[in-house]
Amino acid sequence: MATDAGSRPLVPPRPASGRALPEADADCVERWRTHKGELVDLLTQVRERLGGVAAFRLGPEPTVLVTEPEAVQHVLARHPGRYVKRSHRARLLIGDGVLAATGEAWQRQRKLLQSQFTGTGMRRYEQRITAAARTAAERWAGHARTGRTFDLGEEMRRFALDTIWRALTGHPLDEATAHELTAVATVVAALPSLPADQVDAQDAVAGDLARIDAVARHAVAAARAGAPGPDGPGLLQVLVEAAAERPEYTDQLLRDELVTLLVAGHETTATTLTWLYLLLDRHPSAREEALAAGRPGSPERRAAIQALVSETLRLYPSAWLLPRHAAEADVLAGYAVEAGTDLLVCPYLTHRDPGLWPDPEHFDPRRFTAAGSRPTRPGAYLPFGIGPRACLGQQFALRESVALLEELLPGHVPHFRSVPDRAAYSITVRPDGPTPVTLTSAPK
Ligand code: HEM
Repeated sequence: MATDAGSRPLVPPRPASGRALPEADADCVERWRTHKGELVDLLTQVRERLGGVAAFRLGPEPTVLVTEPEAVQHVLARHPGRYVKRSHRARLLIGDGVLAATGEAWQRQRKLLQSQFTGTGMRRYEQRITAAARTAAERWAGHARTGRTFDLGEEMRRFALDTIWRALTGHPLDEATAHELTAVATVVAALPSLPADQVDAQDAVAGDLARIDAVARHAVAAARAGAPGPDGPGLLQVLVEAAAERPEYTDQLLRDELVTLLVAGHETTATTLTWLYLLLDRHPSAREEALAAGRPGSPERRAAIQALVSETLRLYPSAWLLPRHAAEADVLAGYAVEAGTDLLVCPYLTHRDPGLWPDPEHFDPRRFTAAGSRPTRPGAYLPFGIGPRACLGQQFALRESVALLEELLPGHVPHFRSVPDRAAYSITVRPDGPTPVTLTSAPK
């Protein structure tokens, strides 16, 4: 049968039979615009007024905010084929890496990487993570001795970049590479305000992209040369070996995967650790309680430190918004969702829902240690996402964070010279400004 593919979809959208979505009135959006609020302010109002699945319009088409756990599960975990990731601007930086890939290519890439970030794959990184944490602790000991002021956020970024670099290449991060890779943070920060046109956007950050590409080319060439780093072969070498049998792993895809893991794997962890220290500054007893939970290296202390990380990720899930696009019409929580609708799943608001988390604004790591003190409904806590596109590096991120804190918490207490007075809600939610600190040595 001949089809007029130009004017009619080949597969007609399935009619959705649900009720109409509750929608924020135009005044609410207008008032928000007039006050030049952050997107999070509008989303908070929409959730408070209309509930956990509701629409609002910034342009002609509605966007659906999803915060209710059951609906979050429906979108991310039960029907990932109906709610898909759309090509995003980060492609400029990460190309066809696993974070942006879709369809069969994504499945292949994910399968290969998955084995590297679970079970035995993860055990290979254990020593490298410990070595990176010790290196950071030595730097902190130096800062404490000299009494100099340094930026805590920068320190955390340096640690997280060193850790992922060691995992990828088998080498510690050297000064020159660290310097070149500052271009990654520059491009990530620029992404939201780049010109809409792909070529113009590329031009705007061409210098930084060239620096990143040069580092990636060098790392791929070293992995191809087959010489393992001092800590054994890196993940990049695993990819290079896979490439010998899989023609789809071109040099370009190897570059994209490397940059993807650098991007996905360091800013998120660094931001989490920075928030954690800002929260401890206001709640010093939480540090003492974590250290009192057990001897150094004991499972009890480790669990208590992990609870600090989990509670930080509840209040500040660095990936605070997970955008999806309805590939087909659907009924979500009883509401009709048209094909083509954009959705925003918002872990940040789910984690601050008083119906799920009592006294949600309060930092209380005991939620994650005391039995029965947190909601276990799937979809109520999702700092790493859920479903098939959930974070590949979850175990890695938790392990490196706990390893660093086991080294740093006992010996040093940072004193902030100033603290950012607000959060910046961009691709990640991060402290909006520098975080200068000095250290004092703490009694162990
Ligand atoms: C605290 C640190 C981290 C947080 C909060 C975090 C959060 C997330 C979230 C929420 C997603 C899912 C995005 C979505 O569904 O749209 C994701 C995906 C991903 N993360 Fe992480 N992440 C962290 C650390 C890491 C690390 C250390 C790595 C690598 C070693 C990593 C690699 C990835 C990758 C590759 C994906 C894409 C998976 C896919 O699309 O199949 N992440 N992350």
